[in-house]
Amino acid sequence: MPFTYTNDHQIYRLDYTAPNFTVEQLALEIDLDPVSTKVTTRFVIDAIDQNIDEYEVRLHGSNELLLATIAIDGQQLDSSEFIFDENDLLIIFTQGQHTVEIINTINPSTNTELSGIYISNGMFCSDCEPQGFRNITYFPDRPDVMTRYRVTLRADQAYPVLLSNGNLIEEGLLENNRHYAIWEDPFPKPTYLFAIVAGNLAYIEDQHIRPNGSPVQLRVYADQKDIDRCDFAMKSLKKAMKWDEERFGLICDLDFYNIVAVDDFNGGAMENKGLNLFNTSCILASPETANDDDFTFVEAVVGHEYFHNWTGNRITLRDWFNLSLKESLTVFREQEFIGTEEHPGVRRVQDVNYLRTHQFPDDQGPLSHAVRPDTLGSIENIYTTTTYEKGAEIIRLYQTILGKEGFDRGFARYIKEFDGQAVTVDDFYQAMKAENPRLFDNFMLWYSQRGTPIVKASTEYHPDKKELRLSLKQYLFDPVTKESKQPMPIPVSYALFSQDGELLLEETFTLTTHQQCLVFHNIDAEPIISLLRGFSAPVMLDYDYSFRELQTLIAYETDYFSKWEALQNLILKVIFARDMTLDQMSEIIGNAVEPLFDYAYEDPAFCAQLLTIPDEGYYLGLMEVEDIFYLRNIRQTIVRYVASRFQDRWLKLYQDFQKDDAESRAIKNIALKFITSLEEYQYLLPEQYYQSSNMTDIGSALKCAVWQDIPEKQAMLDDFYERYQHYSTLIDRWFSVQESDPNLTLDMLDKIVEHPAFTRNNPNRVRAIVGAVGKNRYALAKVGSPLYQWIANEILEIDRINSITAAKLVTPFTKVARLQEPLQSEVIEIIHTMLKAPNISNNLFDQLKRIVQ
Ligand code: PHE
Ligand code: ZN
Repeated sequence: MPFTYTNDHQIYRLDYTAPNFTVEQLALEIDLDPVSTKVTTRFVIDAIDQNIDEYEVRLHGSNELLLATIAIDGQQLDSSEFIFDENDLLIIFTQGQHTVEIINTINPSTNTELSGIYISNGMFCSDCEPQGFRNITYFPDRPDVMTRYRVTLRADQAYPVLLSNGNLIEEGLLENNRHYAIWEDPFPKPTYLFAIVAGNLAYIEDQHIRPNGSPVQLRVYADQKDIDRCDFAMKSLKKAMKWDEERFGLICDLDFYNIVAVDDFNGGAMENKGLNLFNTSCILASPETANDDDFTFVEAVVGHEYFHNWTGNRITLRDWFNLSLKESLTVFREQEFIGTEEHPGVRRVQDVNYLRTHQFPDDQGPLSHAVRPDTLGSIENIYTTTTYEKGAEIIRLYQTILGKEGFDRGFARYIKEFDGQAVTVDDFYQAMKAENPRLFDNFMLWYSQRGTPIVKASTEYHPDKKELRLSLKQYLFDPVTKESKQPMPIPVSYALFSQDGELLLEETFTLTTHQQCLVFHNIDAEPIISLLRGFSAPVMLDYDYSFRELQTLIAYETDYFSKWEALQNLILKVIFARDMTLDQMSEIIGNAVEPLFDYAYEDPAFCAQLLTIPDEGYYLGLMEVEDIFYLRNIRQTIVRYVASRFQDRWLKLYQDFQKDDAESRAIKNIALKFITSLEEYQYLLPEQYYQSSNMTDIGSALKCAVWQDIPEKQAMLDDFYERYQHYSTLIDRWFSVQESDPNLTLDMLDKIVEHPAFTRNNPNRVRAIVGAVGKNRYALAKVGSPLYQWIANEILEIDRINSITAAKLVTPFTKVARLQEPLQSEVIEIIHTMLKAPNISNNLFDQLKRIVQ
């Protein structure tokens, strides 16, 4: 590489030192004003070791803060009595307890990073995870310092709702049209869980009754215009509370639980204690404005944030290297919750599909990191699919290896033993191990070794001995250094079927060494094996199924994942069989699809999942050098073949599933997708679009119209904008549908940037536009480096506004090593130019640097 880039902000896990002090009470007074908010911070600090003469404390700050005064025990300090270390304040205290009072100001109206206190759509709100608190005041902004908060908010009466964590203690009027509210949170918490809201908000209200009969008062706050789209979120919250009581015996510990919908938000939602803040895209839902997947998503995110109350808030993190401790466990709990609410097979398949299309490529690319990394250039950059989704699979591994009961015992012990503490993934392991001594000693390798393991399986049947031998081998290569890594415990669930599909046996075996062999006796005839059922471990399985075996498994597998996987494998085998003609390929896939038309009436939701054409990203990830044109061509030919061979059956499905429920819509819209690949049926797209009032149907028709490039496409897009321009989530969708157009050009992008609804200040809009262009693999390949350059320019512009959001847009650049020449060299050049941009943020720099080094 021509350059080496160094990062001054690199931090190391093993550098961790525990704080040598405690903070007992924190009183915050916040005088809200859009341009100059005054923050008064008072706290009592004490040394942990009472015998030391003095102790140094780092109060984290940032360049957002304007320090007015600082006093210790009532004595104002002059500037010789503290040290500024970059933006942090270092203070040396003498032995024992001291009170600290700091006054500073901040400017919420210029806070476009959306970290700390900022303004969104005229309301004050906040986001402190992971290190936003230092943009509010000087304080030890680290998760292992937990404190009780008392918060006084003062604001103009134009902001009638004043919220913070915990319980409302007092409120009243002040001079000059101002008012105040005092909130107290009974639970000690780290800074990242602090939140405030002040605005003119409407709310809906309900309650949850706990097992002991006491109520929790629940509110969802939103802008008046959005309040009629909050009911579903409220219902989901109540379900989640009940589920956590029933499944894990975990009861809500708060008398008040508030959720607030915010337009401008970096993440999806945030689990602040008793005051969850939600990106509007993760909370608002009505059938006219949200599709069925959005509904499930809202339910999942509401559940996720609520589940954090125990896994994250009551038991929190020692340091940010352990982020996965709270996220993986909470994603796992969220997945289990949705699995009981919705169709369990659909949910599992969607989760695995998501993992494989997003986390697998990330974990094999330059941004790959261990679930619990040893070093970080930016904490913001570990909010990844690896931390969340791979982490959740590791929690699932505990459950698969230990069984549900063993897992539940370990989990209960974890909760009991560490309640109120800031801990690590090792502590979670210790709790599991204490209850389940047989848990493998090398289990923690799952947290320390990055990359996706490969399990290579082979079978041999010996008719003379009536014996089947199964050999399993595991490999793991570090994705960056290419070194071979240590074997890990990998549970492989499998089943044996007879040639005509009878289930003979099902078991789980945990592969713990590099290679192991299993022998099955008394097997009368050669069986069909089905491996990695339920996706029992986050690995790539390499096993050569024959076409016939796959066809049998598609028809007879009783495990949802493996039934789906058999069809996936069949498609893969066809696509990568370079010695087949397109006609042959189409026919094999057609034969496999044929029985599914009847299955649709048996299990419509799961059948829709089977028939969903998978994301090309997954297939591209399996190609040495990405060739989207080859893939797209095969895919289109096969889709048209399957559409035309079964025209009548698709039409029948389309007509038979017109009921107003999610599973009918799922099947109906799959049928629509296939059948409208044939021109004579494309009239169905405008027909469905204009006749429906349900967003699932409207959205599906619009997407297909753009994808198929039908003559009515522009009229439909214009109509959509006209109808939904007042719903920001739908404008986002409107943009992203256009950005995913395979015929996307730079001219089209110029028009988009000039559109009045275009803005770089709203993260959702940025993702809907720049993010969606980055996902458009076909256009990227077709337009080439000018399109990468367009994305690069946008990322740099956005970086000046919001570096957290900008840094997450680099995904298309992470695939650079897989591009063909000369595009590859051109894109590398673009990345180097970005790295040299003046004032590039640390967040963006860290990502780009890892890509080219
Ligand atoms: N902790 C949030 C979640 O996973 C994500 C988040 C991170 C939100 C950082 C805001 C800021 O639920
Ligand atoms: Zn989370």
